[in-house]
Amino acid sequence: MTADIESTGTDLIEVLTELASPAGRADPYPLYRRLRALGPAVLDPTGTLLVTDYRLAAALIRDHRFVKRPELALNAAGFEHWRERPALRLMFTSMLVRNPPVHTRLRRSAAGTFTARRVTGLRPAVERIVDDLIAELRISGTADFIEAFAFPLPVTVIGELLGIPEPDRARFQLLVRHWTGVLDGLTPEIVDRADPAAVEIETYFRELLARRRREPADDLVSALSQVDGLADDEIITTAALLLAAGFETTTGLLANGLVALLGHPGEAAALRERPELAVAATEELLRYDSPVQLLSSRTAPEELAVAGRVLPAGQRVVTLIGAANRDAEVFPDPDVLRLDRADEAPLSFGGGLHYCLGAPLARLEAQIAFPALLRAFPDLAVTGPAVHREGLALHGLIELPVTTGRAVRPRSRVPRQ
Ligand code: HEM
Repeated sequence: MTADIESTGTDLIEVLTELASPAGRADPYPLYRRLRALGPAVLDPTGTLLVTDYRLAAALIRDHRFVKRPELALNAAGFEHWRERPALRLMFTSMLVRNPPVHTRLRRSAAGTFTARRVTGLRPAVERIVDDLIAELRISGTADFIEAFAFPLPVTVIGELLGIPEPDRARFQLLVRHWTGVLDGLTPEIVDRADPAAVEIETYFRELLARRRREPADDLVSALSQVDGLADDEIITTAALLLAAGFETTTGLLANGLVALLGHPGEAAALRERPELAVAATEELLRYDSPVQLLSSRTAPEELAVAGRVLPAGQRVVTLIGAANRDAEVFPDPDVLRLDRADEAPLSFGGGLHYCLGAPLARLEAQIAFPALLRAFPDLAVTGPAVHREGLALHGLIELPVTTGRAVRPRSRVPRQ
């Protein structure tokens, strides 16, 4: 192994301790800089390789020879009988942590719904939802941005796709937050809180599946129920993952992105005046403060050479994509938000076999939402402290008080004759 990854000094322990603290998770970037100073990758005290270098991270996550072995982390955390814990079973049997051929079969069953072409067809629906939410914000004037916009937009879109009736959607906000806690830490407290949430989510989808089997509709749960060879548990796990991934991360993008824009008024003004910047702006917002900061570990099944390094068999690798996205060798002035960057793509949607299935949908929602919000409310401002989600893997806000300031009428989309 090369010398630059053998660092387990006191600075490393200090940085990792701070990263686990609420302040460190809220703003991990200064800590990433310190980690990066120790080398492109470092071994943590458990022997896991933590990667902060963009090029190494990109090579590792795209390398199909690595496998997911969630049972290693589960066993190490004392959950040898993890299949008996509802939250762990629902998460760690989903496609997110499976390997081919099971992963291929599960992913294929849902992939058709999220192709770029299918997602483009959702544009009018997303525009309508954004307009409606903006109209409500205009009336209220002050609001919690998460309650009023960042949660309802993605949950409405993924709820429609999955076939979850509108009145049922709001309850999933807290349930999913608690359930997905297991991606951040496997402590008894986190799992105890996640279990009842997972039971409720699982029961909900089991009932929805039974209903759709009786009366199929034009939605994803009905479509999954008709896929040959997919067991009920697999359908439920897939639907639960799509629901959670479909809104929790996108809520993070909308909230983190708004905070970033409001902190950079010049960039916000540029996007307000030139909505055609929306595509590049969304990539930059994903880079600047990624809603997913680290990827669940991959394991080298045998000795593997990657990007000039030799990793021994059994080596576990965690990529800190939030850190890689601020790699100064790839993104000049990485701590500056610059909407017209033309650097490499950020790693916020991962890569390789597990590349985010919902990336086209998340991008569409953000590309429509940000310019629309900035145009409707030129004086949009944060009025109080933001509350951060616990954990680091999923990095977002759970409260963001805002005022719309002086409201203006949105510009009509139909040009005047
Ligand atoms: C800004 C929003 C989003 C971000 C930052 C994000 C990020 C990610 C990342 C980093 C992964 C890879 C995880 C890994 O390799 O370990 C992933 C996987 C996944 N994402 Fe997303 N995601 C977002 C939105 C969505 C949406 C809207 C959906 C669905 C509607 C979705 C569905 C999925 C699924 C199903 C996977 C697992 C794919 C697989 O294992 O093959 N995501 N996402």
